[in-house]
Amino acid sequence: MAPSILFEPFAVKSKRAPNRLWAQSMEINSAGPGGGVSPRVIDRYAALARGGWGVVSVEAISVTPDSLARTRGLVINRENLDGFKRLVEASRAQGASLMIFQLSHAGRQAGAFSRRVKAWGADDGIPVLSTGDLRRIEDEFIESARLAFEAGADGVDIKACHGYLLGELLRPSNVRDDEYGGSPENRARLVTNVIAAISRELPALVTGSRISLYEGIRGGCGTAGADDVVEDLDDILALAGLIARAGASFINVSAGIPALTPHITRPVKADSFFQFYHYRYAKLVKRALPGCAVAGSAYSAGEERSLEWADENLRRGYADFAGFGRQTLADPMFPVKAQDGPGSIRRCTLCGGCSRLLKDQMEVRCSFYEKE
Ligand SMILES: Cc1cc2nc3c(=O)[nH]c(=O)nc-3n(C[C@H](O)[C@H](O)[C@H](O)COP(=O)(O)O)c2cc1C
Repeated sequence: MAPSILFEPFAVKSKRAPNRLWAQSMEINSAGPGGGVSPRVIDRYAALARGGWGVVSVEAISVTPDSLARTRGLVINRENLDGFKRLVEASRAQGASLMIFQLSHAGRQAGAFSRRVKAWGADDGIPVLSTGDLRRIEDEFIESARLAFEAGADGVDIKACHGYLLGELLRPSNVRDDEYGGSPENRARLVTNVIAAISRELPALVTGSRISLYEGIRGGCGTAGADDVVEDLDDILALAGLIARAGASFINVSAGIPALTPHITRPVKADSFFQFYHYRYAKLVKRALPGCAVAGSAYSAGEERSLEWADENLRRGYADFAGFGRQTLADPMFPVKAQDGPGSIRRCTLCGGCSRLLKDQMEVRCSFYEKE
């Protein structure tokens, strides 16, 4: 590929990403017993580092053993810490990628095998978390960030997207009457408290958050109110501002809720125009928060033109990083090949095979290129 902004380094806080290609968090549902790091998990992240990604976001890692969306999801705690250290060491031995741990609480998206809980809402049998529960969860995120730091991670992504607990709290329809609901400050409180505490205590750790700009549900993120479904980004952009002011050095911009509006989160062939929505969402966040690093999403949907779109968007200043999800499964060596021999890239075909494996609680791989 001709010289491209994509292969220029970029500083996030005190850390330097060697290029602008961001391997997005992708759950591969392959943890060992108790949510520990298995050899397959280590291989996945070492391969991404070898592939030359500027940033590698390790998939959703649960901050408690009972908030899992996947039967074999990762859990961060002291018992599993050595495994996470090995993951970081194995990746560092292969390349210079910034290693970010995505810390998560699945909330309402937890599997039936785990503890499904919610932040608010009508009586549907799912328990609503109390103020005390949310304060405890806040502490669990902070403790998990300490463990991520001990494991050697460069940063943490406080997962507030895709309908997980912290994303559910951000919604205009979160009308809790305590400190975690109602006003924008209250809805963002869990995320901002966590980010502020980590920034104070662990200034060397890069801290940010992944949010869904528009979820496509009534009262969801990216709407104007609890009873509105039409896209209106003023509220979510204000929340992104609060998160940045709390100390976030990056915002990873996503959209949709995979369990409800999957075509928004990960555009498929027929709906691949949603990729342009993602580009716009990232652009609006970057415009609102010029001092914050912004990663855009859904670049796999660009297929053979993905690098072209990424280069153009970054040159125009619409984002600082181009985030790829499914493409990282199709070809972990994508960045190296993009520079040295794009013809040999195994392109994601948007077949949806990886998403089906995830939905069926199977080990996730690229089912197009990696036959069982
Ligand atoms: C199998 C699979 C697992 C995913 N796991 C995560 C995850 O752990 N955390 C997250 O924020 N997003 C997750 N996503 C969403 C991706 O990070 C990404 O946003 C989405 O695939 C769209 O980007 P793409 O078009 O480049 O694939 C996952 C998506 C898929 C298909």
